[in-house]
Amino acid sequence: MALSFEGRVVLVTGSGGGLGREYALAFAERGASVVVNDLGADIKGGGKSSAAADKVVEEIRAKGGKAVANYDSVEDGEKVIQSALDAFGRIGENCLCVATYRILRDRSFARTSDLDWDLIHRVHLRGAFFVTRAAWSHMKKQKFGRIIMTASAAGIYGNFGQANYSAAKLGMLGLSNTLAIEGRNYNIHCNTLAPVAGSRLTETVMTPELVASLKPEYVAPMVLWLCHEQCQENGALFEAGAGWIGKLRWERSQGCVVRQKNQPMTPEAVRDQWDKICDFTDATKPTSVQGHPVTKKTNCLHNVSLHCTEQRYNPRTCVC
Ligand code: NAI
Repeated sequence: MALSFEGRVVLVTGSGGGLGREYALAFAERGASVVVNDLGADIKGGGKSSAAADKVVEEIRAKGGKAVANYDSVEDGEKVIQSALDAFGRIGENCLCVATYRILRDRSFARTSDLDWDLIHRVHLRGAFFVTRAAWSHMKKQKFGRIIMTASAAGIYGNFGQANYSAAKLGMLGLSNTLAIEGRNYNIHCNTLAPVAGSRLTETVMTPELVASLKPEYVAPMVLWLCHEQCQENGALFEAGAGWIGKLRWERSQGCVVRQKNQPMTPEAVRDQWDKICDFTDATKPTSVQGHPVTKKTNCLHNVSLHCTEQRYNPRTCVC
């Protein structure tokens, strides 16, 4: 059966262009009432215009869909959410595509100014916080919410000249992971997506052929699925682009205890065990802070909170 969004209110921030626009159109096509938020900012975050959001709303309405425009910056999260409440009476039964807005102030790290840092954090990370916080209590009351945080491969892997953007984007993953935990009991799911798509920013650095293969419409279906009530995914990180979608997770090496009984812990001991510390044979895939090796109770005979690896069952060599 086709996935419907009939009766849902969806807010897509920064949806006057790029990926956000495509999400807004796709949600509306499937019956959602859409709030098209866009400040109409230029690439560096300057300027303001209602034209971008208005154009997308017109497009949606021309196809018979329901949409309203909102021109507030995501830094005014309360106002953005209020516009959804004013237009559609609710935001609780909603899906929130956060940080679909984009500004960049790329500089090599040494040349990154206070303003380059603050502006990117204000818009991306604080913006995501303000918009989501404003919607949170409504979602809790309705016992339904789907939130997508838009991260970036630059945040996951790092990227030359994007220290500010990388830090803000990965900050959003941390935010998303915690919201996934706090929202779980209220049927509020929060996932993070690192998209790749041709846009006004990427088209300056990509060939026309590559831009053509990276249409935003190849990312939108993933966002719709994650936002649908049938989707139970929560607290996950995905990459998507050109029709490809993949999921990412953490991996932790078995590690090893470098501390010796009755001995000071030394950098030499760390050096000598380095290969073992970094050996991913039999790695685990941690998904929460619970059961962390250094805090979990082990089967150590001394029954203390230390991960003893091989020394675990040997009272003579156990360092605890
Ligand atoms: P885009 O630059 O094409 O569109 C972003 C929209 O956000 C613009 O219409 C702009 O007016 C609006 N905007 C800027 N500041 C705003 C603010 N304070 N409040 C409300 N709206 C604001 O962006 P694109 O490429 O579609 O990116 C969407 C998201 O995906 C961004 O978060 C970006 O960082 C992320 N992303 C995109 C990638 C790509 O390949 N396009 C790669 C990795 C991440």
